[in-house]
Amino acid sequence: MRQTRAGASGSALINVMTDAAAKAGRNLVRNFGDIENLQVSKKGPADFVSEADRRAEKIIFETLSKARPKYGFVMEEQGVVKGEDVSNRWIIDPLDGTLNFLHGLPHFAVSIALERDGELFAGVVYEPVSDQMFWAEKGQGAYLNSRRLRVTGRRDLSESVFATGIPFQGRDGHKPFLAQLEQVMAVSAGVRRFGAAALDLAYVAAGRYEGFWEQGLNSWDMAAGVVLVREAGGMVSDFAGRRRFMESGEIVATNGALHDDLRKLLRQG
Ligand code: IPD
Ligand code: CA
Repeated sequence: MRQTRAGASGSALINVMTDAAAKAGRNLVRNFGDIENLQVSKKGPADFVSEADRRAEKIIFETLSKARPKYGFVMEEQGVVKGEDVSNRWIIDPLDGTLNFLHGLPHFAVSIALERDGELFAGVVYEPVSDQMFWAEKGQGAYLNSRRLRVTGRRDLSESVFATGIPFQGRDGHKPFLAQLEQVMAVSAGVRRFGAAALDLAYVAAGRYEGFWEQGLNSWDMAAGVVLVREAGGMVSDFAGRRRFMESGEIVATNGALHDDLRKLLRQG
């Protein structure tokens, strides 16, 4: 066990994950300061991948492979790497918030999750610009640096703030999204779109938002953040309340108290 910054101690597993995230995050921040010199290539409409992204993923891959040589990987850039140990695989987004990063907006993160025996077991989301390390392990609680996290206790929609993701140009779902937004904005205190799903989930865990919803996500956008929300006492499902969000990419994550209310609004949209 290592003592983290101000007291709370993470397991050896968490230390391996936070170490990889911190190294990759430091590299991203260096590149962020030098964004104009980066070689940027287009991955699809409004969906860019940068040299920094690939470098960060390489750092994470090498750090985790050294610490746990037999585990498999699911990575945004390199895809799937099968491991000898079929029970454990890492799910990695080296740079969540790519569009923010490329536009010089300092809101992006490194996301690393461990799936064990088919279940999301541990998650780390690191926001390197502000040095916020969110981490959680199944049954051990969720933390921000050394501080224990809890979702908010708000039960009233009119006092609640929700985060969401707007589908990018070229993706399906613009019309249904607008209908959902209309439902939620009519009854809540406000809706935010900050552009990094991993951080949206981490912020629900930290009690900054009462909830988050998005469709069309990939497993690496969600995996680590889901562990954070659950360990902070929140709830995660798809819009219908099922557990298949990792496969469908459709997610609702809340403080629990407002879960059914938000799901209902989204289904009306
Ligand atoms: C994106 C971000 C964004 C979400 C998109 C994701 P990327 O991930 O999480 O908030 O709305 O759906 O693709 O491309 O920046 O890693
Ligand atoms: Ca992402």
